[in-house]
Amino acid sequence: MKIDDSTSALAQAGSLSESELKLLQVLVYQECGLHFDERRAHFLQDRLLRRMRACQTPSFYSYYRLLTSSEGKREMSVLLENLAIHETSFFRNKAQFDLFHKVIMEELLQRKQERRDCSLRVWSAGCSTGQEPYTITMLMCDALSYYYLRNPLPYETPTPKPLVPPPWKVEVLASDISYTALRTAQDGVYTDAQMEAVDFAYRLRYFDKVGDKYAVKKAVKDLVRFDFHNLKTEFLPQRNDVIFCRNVMIYFDEPEQKRLVDKFYRCLNPEGYLFLGHAESLFGISEKFRMVHRENGTAYQRVEVKA
Ligand SMILES: C[S@@+](CC[C@H](N)C(=O)[O-])C[C@H]1O[C@@H](n2cnc3c(N)ncnc32)[C@H](O)[C@@H]1O
Repeated sequence: MKIDDSTSALAQAGSLSESELKLLQVLVYQECGLHFDERRAHFLQDRLLRRMRACQTPSFYSYYRLLTSSEGKREMSVLLENLAIHETSFFRNKAQFDLFHKVIMEELLQRKQERRDCSLRVWSAGCSTGQEPYTITMLMCDALSYYYLRNPLPYETPTPKPLVPPPWKVEVLASDISYTALRTAQDGVYTDAQMEAVDFAYRLRYFDKVGDKYAVKKAVKDLVRFDFHNLKTEFLPQRNDVIFCRNVMIYFDEPEQKRLVDKFYRCLNPEGYLFLGHAESLFGISEKFRMVHRENGTAYQRVEVKA
C-alpha cells in the first residue's frame, strides 16, 4: 500500500484505539503537563488525526516514533500548539486587573520604595498572543504615573515623560509553549475586535493606529520580554514580584497543578503575588499562600514561614 493510501485509510477510519490514545496522552502529559481525560479524548483524537494526515504518516506508531525521535522535536511543538487552547483578551477578568492596578501595585511600590529597591518584575506564564502581558504593562505604567502624581520626585523628570519614571525599572516576562502565539505577541498588532475591551485613553497612550489595526507602541514593547518556556520543566524564572498564570493550570491534573504552584512559590519574591484564572483556585492545592480578595478580584500572596 502506498503511504497516501494508508494515510487516507487511517483518516477514513477516523479513530484511534484506546491504547493508542493512552500512549499519546502520556506522552503529551510528560512533555507539557496538558491532561486529556475521557471528556477531552475526542478533541485529542481529532487533533492527532489532523497532524498525522499533515505529516502523511502511514500509521499511528510511525507518528508516535516520529514524535519521540530527535528529528521529531518540531512536530512535537506543532502538535502541542494544536492541542493547547489560546483564547485570551485584553483586560480579561477586569476585577482581577483592578485588584492588581489599584491595590497590589500600590502596596508593592510603597514596600519597595521603603527598601530602596526600585525594580518591578512580573511574569505572565502562558501569555498566548500577548494581550495579558500588554495589559499588565499598561497598568504598571499607569500605577507608576499615578504614584508620582501624589509623591513627586525631588528633581525634574525628562520630557516627554518616560512611561517608567526613573529610578524605577519595569520588566515583564511573557512566556508560552506556542511559537505561533509568541510571534503574534511579539508583533503586537491587534484588530478592532480584539481591542474591544481597551478604552480610548489606553488606545491613545499605548497604541499607534496602523491602517485599520492597532500596534502596541515601541516604548511598551520595550518593557516586555517574550520567551519560549515550558512550565513543565524544572527551570522557572526567579525573583518575580507577581506571577500571572491564568487559564493554563485548568488543563493540568491535580498532581501537576500542585507541582507547578510549589515551583511558583519558590520563584516569587517574599510576599509576592500569584494570579490564577477565574475558574482556578489554590483550594486543596497549596497552603503556602493567603487569599487576597477585593470586589470580585482574587489573588494569592506568598506566606512567609517565620524562622
Ligand atoms: C487559554 S490560554 C491563556 C492565556 C492568558 N493567560 C489568559 O488568561 O488570557 C493558555 C496558554 O497556555 C499555554 N500553555 C499550555 N501549556 C503550557 C506549558 N506547559 N507551558 C507554557 N505554556 C503553556 C498555551 O499555549 C496557551 O497559549
